[in-house]
Amino acid sequence: MEKTIEQICDEAFKEINAAESSESLNAISVKYLGRKGIITQFLRSISTLPSEERPKAGEKANETKKILEKAIKDAISRVESEAYKTAGFIDVSLPGRSSFPGSLHPVTQIMRQICDIFARMGFNIAEGPEIESDYYNFEALNIPKYHPARDMQDTFYVSDNIVLRTHTSPVQVRIMEKRNPPVKIIAPGKVYRSDSDITHTPMFHQVEGLMVGENVSFGDLKGILTNFIHLLFDDKTSLRFRPSFFPFTEPSAEVDILCVICRGKGCRICSYTGWLEVLGSGMVHPAVFENVGYDTSKITGFAFGIGVERITMLKYGIDDIRKFFENDLKFLRQF
Ligand code: PHE
Repeated sequence: MEKTIEQICDEAFKEINAAESSESLNAISVKYLGRKGIITQFLRSISTLPSEERPKAGEKANETKKILEKAIKDAISRVESEAYKTAGFIDVSLPGRSSFPGSLHPVTQIMRQICDIFARMGFNIAEGPEIESDYYNFEALNIPKYHPARDMQDTFYVSDNIVLRTHTSPVQVRIMEKRNPPVKIIAPGKVYRSDSDITHTPMFHQVEGLMVGENVSFGDLKGILTNFIHLLFDDKTSLRFRPSFFPFTEPSAEVDILCVICRGKGCRICSYTGWLEVLGSGMVHPAVFENVGYDTSKITGFAFGIGVERITMLKYGIDDIRKFFENDLKFLRQF
């Protein structure tokens, strides 16, 4: 007898838990607790039991009746609650879960801008190896072995005659060996120096430029580079050519731009000079032309090398070069 009432109770609970509306719960109430309901009939049938079983069965059945009444009442308030009613709907007022599409690294973006500007001025893109021979990286560029000029670039030596290129200038030599003048190329790429602090990383990027032919003058160098700076920054950016020294150019000049932060007044970024150094340049040294077999009585040309990280830092006001290589998404997503 007791087992039967327990089975009825279990079945009733299954139905209550599966019910999704107050209508179906009311129907369950009628089915079990109504005038002709299962529990009601069960209670009636108790009178047919032997007298010693009646009290226990009656107690059990009344207890079950109360439990089911309460469970049905609770279930009705559950299905009528706001939370239950809206659970199946999409809350359009919730903030969306955004996905972040990848984007180009700021250094890549600026490198492409630089290449675009020179491409528009008729320069072709050239490339060379990052693992370079001592000959192309130094000797052909008028930097002999053991010469003090080598101290300008802290070099990673792979072996006595193999280095990680310290600049993109060896591409000048490789191209001129293969082609006759006129040559008008730029060579973007990675370069390596054994150096690391807030303005130096062991790997960084340069864009080399080379324009060679008959009657290429220092005036052409100034014109092309001025145009470049005006297109990359804006045409109000003043620049100056400051005498400098590179073994592979003569005369040599470094190009400074008026500080983009303080506009010449003097600030931390420009070390209170009002000027920022952005590239090295000069007229190709005759010794370099001789190394590639060009006729130095007819051919002249200029070359330049741009530090891409440096330009990117200036364009975006970034003060620590190491940020480019930390892969910090909070930093990278700003570009
Ligand atoms: N290669 C030089 C450097 O890395 C830059 C440069 C290139 C200077 C071409 C003059 C001409 O410092």
